[in-house]
Amino acid sequence: MRFLVTGGAGFIGSAVCRQLLMNGAERVVVVDNLTLTPAIFTVGHNQQ
Ligand SMILES: NC(=O)c1ccc[n+]([C@@H]2O[C@H](COP(=O)([O-])OP(=O)(O)OC[C@H]3O[C@@H](n4cnc5c(N)ncnc54)[C@H](O)[C@@H]3O)[C@@H](O)[C@H]2O)c1
Repeated sequence: MRFLVTGGAGFIGSAVCRQLLMNGAERVVVVDNLTLTPAIFTVGHNQQ
């Protein structure tokens, strides 16, 4: 299954992304304007 996470670079959004990927999501796409948080660096970037 594929997912679109808005605010995915933030605190809650990045945790949602990690959980989705750990639970077998085929693809997780993040939409985030990167205005508020550096948390994107904790998400990882090697997933397809
Ligand atoms: N280390 C910590 O404990 C920590 C860190 C951050 C937040 N928090 C807490 O988490 C809660 C909030 O977390 P959150 O994930 O909702 O907020 P957040 O600020 O962490 O994430 C929101 C994300 O939405 C993005 N965003 C905002 N407006 C946007 C727009 N118009 N288009 C695209 N992206 C947009 C921001 O760039 C950001 O990445 C609060 O209770 C806060 O106190 C805790």
